[in-house]
Amino acid sequence: MVSIKDILDKKGKEKIIMLTCYDYSFAKILDEAGIDMILVGDSLANVVLGMSNTKDISFLEMYNHTKAVGSAVINSLVVADMPYVAYQKNPDKALYYAEKFIKAKAGAVKIEWFEGKKNCVYVAKKLIKNKIPVMGHIGLTPQTVHLLGGYKVQGKDLNSAKKLIEEAKILEDVGVFSIVLECMPYQLAGYITNILKIPTIGIGAGKFCDGQVLVLYDLLNIYKKIRPKFVRTYEDFYSRTKEAILKFIADVKNSNFPDDLESFSISKEELSKLQLDIPYE
Ligand code: KIV
Repeated sequence: MVSIKDILDKKGKEKIIMLTCYDYSFAKILDEAGIDMILVGDSLANVVLGMSNTKDISFLEMYNHTKAVGSAVINSLVVADMPYVAYQKNPDKALYYAEKFIKAKAGAVKIEWFEGKKNCVYVAKKLIKNKIPVMGHIGLTPQTVHLLGGYKVQGKDLNSAKKLIEEAKILEDVGVFSIVLECMPYQLAGYITNILKIPTIGIGAGKFCDGQVLVLYDLLNIYKKIRPKFVRTYEDFYSRTKEAILKFIADVKNSNFPDDLESFSISKEELSKLQLDIPYE
């Protein structure tokens, strides 16, 4: 089983691999493939539940999918993404919700950077003090995208770059075990990676991060609504699934499905006892 220590130990030695996942069947595949960390991301809201943002997903929706993933995984470290409602909206309830994710077999939770009186640091401190491993997330933080001027690359000017460097240092000092760097110039992500002792996991942050994460449905081209520049598509499940379904439709219409091997039958003897006029042979 991949531990927090295993993730920390990989820094500077071996790239860390993380993918999002939301269900039992895909989680089995990812786990068998040897993914270090499986993130039950709140991108679930977009790619599975069809919502237009991640802010509106409920705790129960995230919890149910974490449970599904947790029940499949044997080796990977499962990271549950804390939904907005479970910490940004209610910072004082963050521990309560995080403990529920841990009971659902998550080994850690992820929180996005956010500001305010009871902010990201407040929540991170509280969880870490209660022995819950926390992954930070800075740069493009979708739960507060309205404050960032939209889905834009972050840290492209002096002030915003300095701010991201500061956030990364603060999170490391607070005790998070790794930080997702989303959508920032690769030079800045490389610099942040160099100054931290904990690993960085990049998404749209270039190759100098300690690890990489992608949304599984982007990598497999299942979700086609948005295609960010940083996504590499490794399979075309959209087209392949559609092809398979078109074949199924044709087979049913032409009575090619199901065949005898895909059907159950009753013995002639029993059938005759029914004394029915059945023409099917
Ligand atoms: O929810 C998610 O998929 C994420 C990744 C983009 C890191 O937070």
